[in-house]
Amino acid sequence: MAWKTRLTEALGISLPILLAPMGGAAGGKPAAAVTAGGGLGFIGAGYGDPAWIDREFAAAGNARVGCGFITWSLANQPELLDRVLAHAPAAVFLSFGDPAPFVPKIRAAGSRLICQVQTIAHTRAALAAGADIIVAQGTEAGGHGALRATMTLVPEVADLLARGSPDTLLLAAGGIADGRGLAAAIMLGADGVVMGSRLWATRECLIHPNHQTAALAANGDATVRQIAADIARGYDWPGEFTGRVLRTGFVDRWHGDEAAHRAAAGAARAGYMADVAEGRTDEAGVFVGEAIGLMDRVLPAAAVLAAVGAQAEALLRGRAARVLA
Ligand SMILES: Cc1cc2nc3c(=O)[nH]c(=O)nc-3n(C[C@H](O)[C@H](O)[C@H](O)COP(=O)(O)O)c2cc1C
Repeated sequence: MAWKTRLTEALGISLPILLAPMGGAAGGKPAAAVTAGGGLGFIGAGYGDPAWIDREFAAAGNARVGCGFITWSLANQPELLDRVLAHAPAAVFLSFGDPAPFVPKIRAAGSRLICQVQTIAHTRAALAAGADIIVAQGTEAGGHGALRATMTLVPEVADLLARGSPDTLLLAAGGIADGRGLAAAIMLGADGVVMGSRLWATRECLIHPNHQTAALAANGDATVRQIAADIARGYDWPGEFTGRVLRTGFVDRWHGDEAAHRAAAGAARAGYMADVAEGRTDEAGVFVGEAIGLMDRVLPAAAVLAAVGAQAEALLRGRAARVLA
């Protein structure tokens, strides 16, 4: 089997699949595993701990990987971009904020710019900044995002790019966890996909196994967009973004009661961080998406990539003969 999309050609990869730069979860090992599996792995620098970033680039060994930032957070500590560029990332992946201030350095380092967007307005801003690749992220996605659904956002962005910026590549994200999702994304006009939740439930990802077990036991009804997990951690996200998490006891306690939560969160913060790190799932905000309903076990990342690629290939090759006379 040989995949040939604009993404595989541009990045020199054999499967059109990128690992989402999931903050704290997508470390060097999962990123390297996705690259070894034929896609391209990204380290998720999240809120930007410099020692963590250096450690995870070291953990990736000499695998070719990229790195992603939460853009509004990077704006508070812009020196982290130099630190990451010193590791010669395959690409820099910016989400959630204005990418423009960071473009000159990324260009000067000869790296590619990937911008994840949630709306048409974000897409226009990313194009104005000169993004090489746009990731259209639907609301099904795990982690932070907004309200547009993958099913309409991806083709609408595809039309926008076709009209005004035909050389910019397009990836779909949000709810893509198997070959059906990859094949559908290609049909919607994408050159490939970004996968988060499915690769979160892999052996390599830096996630407590209790959280993975709980998510895999639930179905796709069991997630919700909320800000309780940000209040608990003390992160002040722009109001247009919320985070999709597993509906745990913690979420049921605080979601919808934000004023009381803000009043209580500071004193509870250290305990909350320990609950997350030590795998007390019911006390935690566990970032993961609706795709939990499409998976039932923790796998090695390379096995996920192989299965997704093979299923998508079979669907793309076989379905037309079954649905067209
Ligand atoms: C645990 C988790 C953490 C995430 N952290 C980030 C992040 O730090 N930066 C980012 O750009 N996207 C982050 N995302 C969102 C992903 O980039 C991506 O859009 C999403 O995972 C795709 O949808 P899916 O989860 O249905 O595959 C995160 C997603 C998850 C599940």
